Amino acid sequence: MEGATLILGIETSCDETAAALVARSPAGVGEIVSSVVLSQVEEHTPFGGVVPEIAARAHVEALDGIVAEALRRAGATHERIDAVAATCGPGLLGGLLVGAVTGKALAFAWEKPFLAINHLEAHALTARLTDGLEFPYLLLLVSGGHTQILDVRGVGDYARIATTIDDAVGEAFDKVAKMLGLGFPGGPEVEKAAAAGDPARFDLPRPMLGRVEPHFSFSGLKTAVRRAAEGLQPLGGQDVADLCAGFQAAVTDCLADRVARAFDIAPRRHLVVAGGVAANAALRSALARTAEAHGAMLVAPPQALCGDNAAMVAWAGAERLALGLSDGLDAPVVARWPLDPGAEAARGAGVKA
Ligand code: KG4
Ligand code: ZN
Repeated sequence: MEGATLILGIETSCDETAAALVARSPAGVGEIVSSVVLSQVEEHTPFGGVVPEIAARAHVEALDGIVAEALRRAGATHERIDAVAATCGPGLLGGLLVGAVTGKALAFAWEKPFLAINHLEAHALTARLTDGLEFPYLLLLVSGGHTQILDVRGVGDYARIATTIDDAVGEAFDKVAKMLGLGFPGGPEVEKAAAAGDPARFDLPRPMLGRVEPHFSFSGLKTAVRRAAEGLQPLGGQDVADLCAGFQAAVTDCLADRVARAFDIAPRRHLVVAGGVAANAALRSALARTAEAHGAMLVAPPQALCGDNAAMVAWAGAERLALGLSDGLDAPVVARWPLDPGAEAARGAGVKA
């Protein structure tokens, strides 16, 4: 790309070790030059969830090689790189430290600017890399740790419209999978099982449906699935399929309803869905219908870029660098880093955001 800046991105906030090179043209067009993602799923599977110490250790062992591989696949040497961006929060502190220290060391050694990236901002800006989307747009971020609707107005300018008052939606998928004896991560397993199930067999609740405040809640739904499962012991294959189908249908109804409410609050022409749960096909179709009903279009980046990756981190770095922004090598890593610090805590919310 003529006159483009080339950014190295590093992502280690959860259980993916990732590095990527992304180019940004002076006109603002992005291109992924290389993107390497190493999932730690196998390390965490025996524990049925991400173990922070294991994750941090795995990042330490893998990151150098992943960065080298990203450079190799791009056919680039470090002289070509204009800046280094690393996720500095929110996430698991051990992993964040590994990525941030590595990114800072490379930036220092190569004498390039360093960008401390907010992981949520990276998800929020991905659709500009993949689809060249213009501001403003609505973002539904649905992952293992986050369930939010944001009004994305500009780089660094986000208004949180909704958040969960209890579980994140991916977390709910993972917990339901666990109680039904399915594998980890639970989302894909639940979706697979749901395909053979009857969503109407169990009368499951739709928490928050129709409420004026646009927030989410999943813990009551999760408990309802647990109760239904307990009443059926031992669970047969069809029981599991029907419970998965019922749960997925309820989640989909809730998310679509909350997004509809967000459109009422902030009418936008595009709805972007991001995060691991965005892989769910039933959810995508429901969101496409909701967007259409509000005169908007659903934009769903390719699945590899919806889940955690470093291309989104590099891109967020490129967007910030283009605005003349960069960070000091003393930038901290932070477990919590809301995109909209002014947003009030949702009523009934615990520590999760
Ligand atoms: O964004 P992500 O890869 O990692 C973070 O949590 O940051 O999201 C992972 C989450 C897990 O909870 C997983 O169960 C869920 O996304 N997930 C799905 C599907 N694929 C992944 N949930 C529902 N349906 C899916 N097909
Ligand atoms: Zn994420």
